[in-house]
Amino acid sequence: MTIAWTRPLDAGSTIETLLVGESEAINEVRRLVRQVGPASASVLIMGPSGSGKEMVARAIHISSIRKSKPFVAVNCGAIPRDLLESELFGHEKGSFTGATALRKGRFEDANGGTLFLDEIGDMPADMQVKLLRVLEERAITRVGGHAVIPVDTRIVSATHRDIALSIEDQRFREDLFYRLAVFPITLPSLYDRPEDIPLLVEHFLDRIAEPDGRVKFSAGALLHMSGHPWPGNVRELRNVVERAAILYPNKTIHPEQVDLLITRKAGLRPAERKVLWAMTERAAETAAPEQGVVLPAVIADPFAAGPVDLKARIVAMERELIELALGRAGGVVAEAARLLSLQRTTLIEKMNKYGISRDVGAETA
Ligand SMILES: Nc1ncnc2c1ncn2[C@@H]1O[C@H](COP(=O)(O)OP(=O)(O)O)[C@@H](O)[C@H]1O
Ligand SMILES: [Mg+2]
Repeated sequence: MTIAWTRPLDAGSTIETLLVGESEAINEVRRLVRQVGPASASVLIMGPSGSGKEMVARAIHISSIRKSKPFVAVNCGAIPRDLLESELFGHEKGSFTGATALRKGRFEDANGGTLFLDEIGDMPADMQVKLLRVLEERAITRVGGHAVIPVDTRIVSATHRDIALSIEDQRFREDLFYRLAVFPITLPSLYDRPEDIPLLVEHFLDRIAEPDGRVKFSAGALLHMSGHPWPGNVRELRNVVERAAILYPNKTIHPEQVDLLITRKAGLRPAERKVLWAMTERAAETAAPEQGVVLPAVIADPFAAGPVDLKARIVAMERELIELALGRAGGVVAEAARLLSLQRTTLIEKMNKYGISRDVGAETA
């Protein structure tokens, strides 16, 4: 079963409906958004994954005079490095193999509006140089092109990394940082503002269609939730509320159920479930039908159903492990690469080859 949202995220949104919470920290974030929104200054949003960076970016966009123009989001960490330049700046027809037509880049798509550069801390060094030049010149040149095309695009960027550390390690250019962070905003983790949990729970429940009746969280459950570390921040809380709505319609959640709802996450993630399904399906194919009990293919005689296509098996296993690692790493490519003992660039090449996106294992977008 999937959750039906009662309305799209942006319909009739305001700063208040996008950024829910009454903690000092969130009040301050809303105040900063109101202040910087109308200006066209570049904003860099920092904070851990799931803390609401993209929400803040959208809130900035809708509080600016650009709100009737596009808000375009690019995840700089998810796009293979050799495609990132053409993604951002576009390309002319025939500029490289596969460039069969002219394609406008995201800067041009966002002209007049806001370009949200997510995970900017993952941007490769050569792209950092190119981006800096574009920001200085307020103009782009498409890959394989010569024309200098002026763009009026407001840049809001975000990173979950400690960018000061990245600058120290020379992984991020200091001059680019100052360009992007004319106005920095830092989001606190959910653990640091547990007083926002009840409002956020209400907010997510309000947005879920519940034909079988609404789930309720007891005061004890909410108290219990304020002690959880929330490594996935608001995104994790949203997932817990969604699971509660699915599993306990018209019921009241108590602290025991909270533990179950939270640890379900620590159990099987969708990518892991998918792998398990794939394994049992293959086992069913491989195992002789009269065996009765279906064993995983690795335990059952692998040749019972005839010759094995070793290459195809290896490819399938490679895909599965990549998806599994991305799911485990919460979509952080560098972490998935570590789990697979691969270079980040090698992993990105493989993801590209198999058409795997980095949020393959995420429970919700
Ligand atoms: N203050 C908030 N109020 C309401 N929803 C929020 C808030 N912060 C985060 N969310 C929700 O949590 C999820 C993760 O937020 P997102 O902005 O994508 O985080 P990040 O970009 O930092 O990883 C989204 O579903 C978003 O709607
Ligand atoms: Mg994000």
